[in-house]
Amino acid sequence: MGIRIIGTGYDVPETIVTNEDFAKIVDTNDEWITTRTGIKTRHIATGQTLGYQIGARAAQMALNDAGISIDEIDLVIGTTCTPDYLTPSLACMVANELGAKKPACVEINSACAGFVYALDMAKRYLSDDDYRNVLIVSSELLSKMTDYEDRSTCVLFGDGAGACVVTKSDDPFVSELGSDPSGNKFLFARGVEPGNPFSKEPFNPESDGFAKAAPHKLHQDGREVYKFATRAMPSAVKAACEKANIDPDELDWVFSHQANARILETAAKNLKVPLSKFYMNIADYGNMSSACIPVCMALAQREGKLVRGQKLCTVGFGGGLVYAAAVFEW
Ligand code: ACO
Repeated sequence: MGIRIIGTGYDVPETIVTNEDFAKIVDTNDEWITTRTGIKTRHIATGQTLGYQIGARAAQMALNDAGISIDEIDLVIGTTCTPDYLTPSLACMVANELGAKKPACVEINSACAGFVYALDMAKRYLSDDDYRNVLIVSSELLSKMTDYEDRSTCVLFGDGAGACVVTKSDDPFVSELGSDPSGNKFLFARGVEPGNPFSKEPFNPESDGFAKAAPHKLHQDGREVYKFATRAMPSAVKAACEKANIDPDELDWVFSHQANARILETAAKNLKVPLSKFYMNIADYGNMSSACIPVCMALAQREGKLVRGQKLCTVGFGGGLVYAAAVFEW
């Protein structure tokens, strides 16, 4: 059994922040950001917007696109590493916004690989008779955990949400999921620190060997993550293609996590897949973590670039360090 995506949607905050805007708050410039990352602008939530609200708008668009109602959704999978609430989950918040009555709800934090993990999970649930349709909603307000005093990371991230409706199908779906957890210190943001009236001494956040970082802000060793991404991403694509019994060059589209245009260029060369098959929106949206891939798919569909029967690979990588690739038909 496989899966088919029958609807997509996306939503981003209105405010667009340019590289020139960043040059006013940190020591940077458009030339550095463009040549090192490929990013020109990103959307940033500047009002009272929360992640579940843009997530719900993306999800409603996906339901409309699929032509089904929220009542026909049996499972909502939320993916985020920037949740609005530690509990309830993003999935529950979105389900309530959409007026859902009783879907199963679960949240995945696999950082920028979250959407591909969610697709894989959807496939496994849909192989059970109790589940007919799954709604995946990936929503991230990276701006909440971006350290705007750190020029090496703040220019990279944007806010946004993507969603899709997944249903059962006979079309094949294969995946390759994995991690290198020894790299967990290269990309992290601390959560709520332990502490209570019975604590014997104040908690030292660096006691586990992770670097010093502003509370709840993202810390990245860019070079280490770059090395991991350029190694893990093409190898996950190759492994998934091998399981699907196809060569990477037979893919019609690669929907990759959008961390850095140079990572995509390196991967394309390594895989011997033309760069034109890598859908890219990084110039306009930056890195929106797990929302990148579903936003790319929603845009590609609306641009008429996705045609039923095309072979796709979705591939994500990020904090963990994790990676995930899936090959299936549009
Ligand atoms: N503007 C100007 N100069 C800068 C900036 C900036 N915004 N940021 C860093 N620099 C400087 C550095 O200080 C350094 O100066 P120095 O040589 O005088 O010390 C120089 O530029 C080079 O810095 P590097 O860190 O070596 O730059 P690099 O070419 O590696 O690019 C980048 C940095 C873009 C972060 C890159 O390493 C990268 O893309 N890494 C991967 C990121 C990624 O894939 N993340 C994925 C997951 S994100 C998630 O999970 C939420």
